Amino acid sequence: MLFFCLSLTILKISFAQTNPPCIQCFCLYPQTPTSNTTTPTPLSTTTAPTTSTTIIPTTSTTSPTTITTTTQSTTTTTSPLIYNELNCVFPFQMYGVLYDKCVSFDGRTYWCSLDRIYTNRAAQCKEACPQLARNLLADTNNIHSSCLESSSSATGLFPTLNQTQQILELHNRARSVVQPTAVDMKRVSWDLGLARLAQRWSETCNFDHDCTLCRRLLNNQTISVGQNAFAIFGSEYNPNTLWPEVINFWIDEKKNFVYGLGSRTGNFQDVGHYTQIIDSNTARIGCGAAKCDNNIYAYCNYALAQDDWKIPYKRGIACSQCSRKNCQNNLCNCSKLCQNNGILDPIKCECKCPDRFSGELCEIG
Ligand SMILES: *[C@@H]1O[C@H](CO)[C@@H](O)[C@H](O)[C@H]1NC(C)=O
Ligand SMILES: *[C@@H]1O[C@H](CO)[C@@H](O)[C@H](O)[C@H]1NC(C)=O
Ligand SMILES: *[C@@H]1O[C@H](CO)[C@@H](O)[C@H](O)[C@H]1NC(C)=O
Ligand SMILES: *[C@@H]1O[C@H](CO)[C@@H](O)[C@H](O)[C@H]1NC(C)=O
Repeated sequence: MLFFCLSLTILKISFAQTNPPCIQCFCLYPQTPTSNTTTPTPLSTTTAPTTSTTIIPTTSTTSPTTITTTTQSTTTTTSPLIYNELNCVFPFQMYGVLYDKCVSFDGRTYWCSLDRIYTNRAAQCKEACPQLARNLLADTNNIHSSCLESSSSATGLFPTLNQTQQILELHNRARSVVQPTAVDMKRVSWDLGLARLAQRWSETCNFDHDCTLCRRLLNNQTISVGQNAFAIFGSEYNPNTLWPEVINFWIDEKKNFVYGLGSRTGNFQDVGHYTQIIDSNTARIGCGAAKCDNNIYAYCNYALAQDDWKIPYKRGIACSQCSRKNCQNNLCNCSKLCQNNGILDPIKCECKCPDRFSGELCEIG
């Protein structure tokens, strides 16, 4: 049985030195889209408590460590991501798919075609990482995760389509069988933005959580994002087993969970990953992973973040707060995340917006 607390402390100390200042960050990498295949990789974040687990070589038992971070609030207004679309042709067709905006194959670099039908002439799209990220984190010393560069020892393991499906199935299965049953448990869906942030963060090779604002979506800055983390030391990467191993480890904390009480042990750290996985306010997830030397670091980001680990959902007749036509396997198909503090009506699957805001997601204001 091994602990990772000490290492976490050490990693925290090196934090400031390893992160480049935002001024150097262009979010551009020299790479061209040459094939349809995506590089295999895994990833995830929130404002509420976040948890990290560590596991050592082979199998054996492990001791999760937990970090609780306090929620920071922001009053920043949302702005759209800005692409450098100067030479892009929208919409364009690439590998048989039509795109109306820049596309990423590695979760990191964005591309567009210079021709209506892509024939090897592509341009890198610049994301508005520096300005939006700086605004978001203006009053802090932190750097948004989209501005961080990969460590030279990192090999990105951005989730493949198969892995994405594995991750979603494992999460949704855990959510559909909660006891007691939930009135409004949502089916979670994949969010590329959350995944890209988890991927970026994992590739820094700092095993820790990024700051709560650092993992917010730049185009949805009012949406809280939670995070589960996992480290496997001295392990070979197996694309078929990595994510089941990680997520089942988190789900295994179910044995400690008592609805209303939180943990039968009294400790958030013994259930925190599980309570994030079964939080009914969570509708989107995105995960990423990297191999850093001989270790694999995996993160899943969750939006919204869990905010009550003792009562992660409302108990009652399954789906009784979801319209019948949207309910399947005890899960409600409503993955809207209302922005700007809008409140979701789960039955209508509509956002109720605060006064100054409107739009389907309260995004206009
Ligand atoms: C990419 O996918 C398209 C259609 O899905 C296929 O026609 C094409 O041959 C693929 N290209 C490569 C390089 O695999
Ligand atoms: C995806 O998973 C299926 C079933 O597990 C497997 O047969 C297939 O080869 C996988 N595809 C890739 C690209 O790994
Ligand atoms: C809910 O979503 C899933 C996955 O997208 C889909 O397979 C299923 O048919 C949907 N169920 C309902 C009742 O809409
Ligand atoms: C972020 O905002 C855009 C535009 O309002 C929306 O389409 C998208 O679904 C949002 N993403 C999340 C995770 O809420």
